[in-house]
Amino acid sequence: MRSYSLIAPAKINLYLQIVGDRPDGFHELIMVLQSIELADRVTVRSRSVDGIRVNCDNPAVPVDQTNLAYRAAELMMREFPEIYARFGGIEIDLQKRIPMGAGLAGGSSNAAAVLVGIDLMWSLGLTQSELQDLGAKLGSDIPFCISGGTAIATGRGERLAPLTGLNDFYVVLAKYRDLPVSTPWAYQTYRKNFSNSYPKTPEEIEAKKSQSREILNAIAHHDLRQIGQHLHNDLEKVVLPEFEKVQQLRDQFARLNSVGTMMSGSGSTVFALAESRSQAEEIMSGMRSNIPDSDLDLWVTKLSQSGVHLATH
Ligand code: C5P
Repeated sequence: MRSYSLIAPAKINLYLQIVGDRPDGFHELIMVLQSIELADRVTVRSRSVDGIRVNCDNPAVPVDQTNLAYRAAELMMREFPEIYARFGGIEIDLQKRIPMGAGLAGGSSNAAAVLVGIDLMWSLGLTQSELQDLGAKLGSDIPFCISGGTAIATGRGERLAPLTGLNDFYVVLAKYRDLPVSTPWAYQTYRKNFSNSYPKTPEEIEAKKSQSREILNAIAHHDLRQIGQHLHNDLEKVVLPEFEKVQQLRDQFARLNSVGTMMSGSGSTVFALAESRSQAEEIMSGMRSNIPDSDLDLWVTKLSQSGVHLATH
């Protein structure tokens, strides 16, 4: 029976700006997304019986329809019913390393890996952009998770343009284990509190969009210090006042790290950029001693140029 194991990397947001409301109920965004080496492993194989089965090494992860990986398999079965009838059901194993409710696109990346894995298993020969169109039906971050690297994402977050790669740099991630933040809550609260300040005229919208110029320029020049100075995330305005512990991570990183720190996505992960592994490890041990809380998880990982890819062993 054919089986494919894929590496499904997490992402961080170097930039997340909310431009306004969209007619579909989502928000119009400008984001800079960056893959990191912290990744889950997703294995896809055929089953001798119909239907979908998801197994996960973390019992806290739901394995039913609420899991995006499950929904990705369901979507492929719906899109390719004859091939599904020929191959039978799908079994998915998730080996989780990316925390949940973290703003690191763990669920989206798992779904992206399921799409790529089923394409291989069923020999569909879909192009990357066809896979991304399928992914966009399930979640705004899935198209990016398929291609990965460094990219500017607009629209709901699904319209992508690649940027110069930044894989030489490191990042420290900090997240309280039992502190997830709901993405819909973060966006809805932002709308409630700030929609009266959304730009309205085409000139105002252009002016807002042009604020991303500095970080894009810094990325083009591979200048980590400048990137660090122009990190931005509008969702911090709603998450930090509500979650004191996320604010505390942000403050501690700022104290320890001169390069740059920011919350990723809707949180609750906060990250700090670093020029080298040793600098990242120094920041991580600083965090450990300044916040001696056993519920705090910390990782050192590298920025990466890879989206979902086949595991080599
Ligand atoms: O697309 P995805 O399902 O990952 O989005 C999760 C939630 O985040 C949406 O249900 C919506 O509340 C919010 N969201 C948004 N605007 C975006 C992307 C996400 O309001 N562009």
